[in-house]
Parts: sequence; C-alpha cells; structure tokens
Amino acid sequence: MDVVEALQRQATACEDLGSPMYAELLRLLVDDYEVGGASAELLSEYEGRSFGDAIGLRLLAAVHGLVLSGAAPELAAFYPSVGGTWDPVLGWEAFEQVLRSRLGEVRSLLTQPPQTNEVGRSAALYGGLLQLVAAVPLPVRVYEIGASGGLNLRADRYRYVADGRSYGLADSPVVFDPAWSGQVPSVDLRIAERVGCDIAPVDPLTPDGALTLTSYVWPDMPDRLARLRGALEVARQVPADVRREDAVSFLRGLELSPGHVTVVWHSIMWQYLRRVDRSAIEARLTELGAQATESSPLAHLSLEPHRVLTHEHGSDGYVYRVDLQVWPGGTRRVLGAAAPHGQDLQWHVN
Ligand SMILES: C[S@@+](CC[C@H](N)C(=O)[O-])C[C@H]1O[C@@H](n2cnc3c(N)ncnc32)[C@H](O)[C@@H]1O
Repeated sequence: MDVVEALQRQATACEDLGSPMYAELLRLLVDDYEVGGASAELLSEYEGRSFGDAIGLRLLAAVHGLVLSGAAPELAAFYPSVGGTWDPVLGWEAFEQVLRSRLGEVRSLLTQPPQTNEVGRSAALYGGLLQLVAAVPLPVRVYEIGASGGLNLRADRYRYVADGRSYGLADSPVVFDPAWSGQVPSVDLRIAERVGCDIAPVDPLTPDGALTLTSYVWPDMPDRLARLRGALEVARQVPADVRREDAVSFLRGLELSPGHVTVVWHSIMWQYLRRVDRSAIEARLTELGAQATESSPLAHLSLEPHRVLTHEHGSDGYVYRVDLQVWPGGTRRVLGAAAPHGQDLQWHVN
C-alpha cells in the first residue's frame, strides 16, 4: 500500500472512532507528504508496506510520546492529553516544526511496533467471562496471548455499569458507563491466575512503559485516557505475569488445572500472527480441548475482527466479534459485537 493511502485510511478510521484531531492531522500529513515536506523524509521508506504496519499511528504516537514526556513543549498547547486545545493551523505548524527539528529521533521511534493496550476491550472480555462463569462456575485462570501491558488481565478490577446494574469492582478507578447493551448474568467471579505473553510486552509499572502506552491513546479522547490512567493505577495494586514469549510457545507450555476453568483470551492480536502460527494455536487449543473435563474445562474467548460485506458494525467492513468456545464439547457461541476499542458493545440474545 502506498503511504498516502495508508494515511488516508487511518484518517477515516480516526474520524469514525472519535478522534477529529488525528483525522485532521493525518490529512495534513497527506498534504505535506505529497509536496515532499518533512513527513516525506520520514515516511517515504515505508512505501509499499501493509496497512497493518500502521505507519501513521506510529508517527503520531512517536510525537505524542515527545509531548507527554515534556520534550516538545511547543506542541503541548495543542494536545488535549496535556491540557492543550487542538488547532489545525497553529497546531500543524508546531507539529511540522517538531518533525523538522527532531527528524532523527522521530525516525528511530518509528521503527518500534505499535503498542496499544486498549482498556476499553476489557468490557468485552469481562462480559464474556461473566457469561462463561454463569455456565461453568469455577475459579478462572486467564491466559492472554498478545497481552501488551497486561492491563486487560485486570478486567475484573474495573467497574462496568449497564441497565442500572454494576459489575466488577465497585470502587475501581476505571469505570465503563454504559459498559454495554444487552443482558449478561451477574455472577461471583474469581480470577485465580493472570498470565499473559507478548513478543514485545510493555511494563505498565515503569514510567517508560506507562508513557509508551499513553502515547498510543489518541490525545483528544479523554475517556480512553482516563481509563488508561485508572488501569495503570490498578496495575500497581494487582500483579499479572506477562512474559516475553510468542503465543505459540506460550500455549505449548499451558496445561489445564483441576478445579479451575482455564481461559485463553485475546483481543485485536490475531491479525499480527503468521498463518502458520494461527494454525498452531488452533491445533493446540483443540489438543487441550480434548483433555478438558467437567472439573478442568477450557475456554477460548476473543474479541477480533471478522470481515463482513456491509459497513454496519465497525470500520473497514469488519465486525469486531466476541466469540466463546468451551470444552469439553467445544461448543461455540458468538456472544456479541463491539467497535475496535471495545466501545458500543452489544450482547446478542442467546
Ligand atoms: C494491537 S495490540 C493489542 C494488545 C491487547 N491485546 C489489547 O487489546 O489492547 C497487539 C499485540 O499483539 C502482540 N503480538 C503480535 N504478535 C504476537 C505473537 N506472535 N505472540 C504474542 N504476541 C504478539 C503485539 O506485540 C501487541 O502487543
């Protein structure tokens, strides 16, 4: 894909997902790129790369990181994440100036893979867990592949409000209100183990890790930023074990445990796997599923995009579906659908 097309598609996605500032900035970047401005010096080497490389988001996150760390004070006045107000004329001038004056620094930041850990997806994972535990009332071991900073491994420590009812932890600093529409059962749920893997994990407990995660949240989305900041606070209280390991070897090492339901879950990571790795993961889940019993069951819960023909549910002709498969038996259910960051979550009637 050419860079201009990638930036334009990303601009549309930002617009659809609630960031007018980034939609505007990306379109200004397209103009700048086409006339051979600073962005062309940075991005032309990415011509022909796939949209999944998310070059526009990498660039915006690199600059947002500079703003958050205080290294680009001339831009702070235009970034709502640090108290500024976006202005397309003066903001663009300051942005372009940062690209010019920090070309080398921004270029090296661009080589890092995108690292979004979206707390909004916890609603889909936790709501799915409530539905699982209603049917399989055992303590839960959560094993997450592509866990990033592991923030969604603390999903039970957030508060979800829907239909006048509250789920999760009542006094959590992370609140989803409304969390979803549609019915989910209210059940007692205990997470006994929180383990994750990622090929490039981020430690949310370090200042650098927290800054990286924050830089990937779009600066004009205060709800997402507030949830992330709350989740960073929760992470300091509730440990989770996130290992630097790829998903295939991580699941190879997983065994079931009597008296627990073992849940393998993931959100928005499947697209980054090689075909061969997807097949290996599916084969390992089938293998573990065959070993599952009523006292040591297995579940596979995911929030992932699936291509659809209409534009109805999400962006780019994808529906972001919450799927659950449970063994013994291997019964599959589509539980619901959401937008890419977990917003507009709708549970189906089952
Ligand atoms: C878009 S992020 C999503 C992170 C998190 N699941 C969320 O929903 O916020 C995708 C994550 O998958 C990780 N990833 C990509 N390939 C992987 C692999 N083969 N094994 C484990 N993690 C992988 C990336 O490093 C990244 O942290």
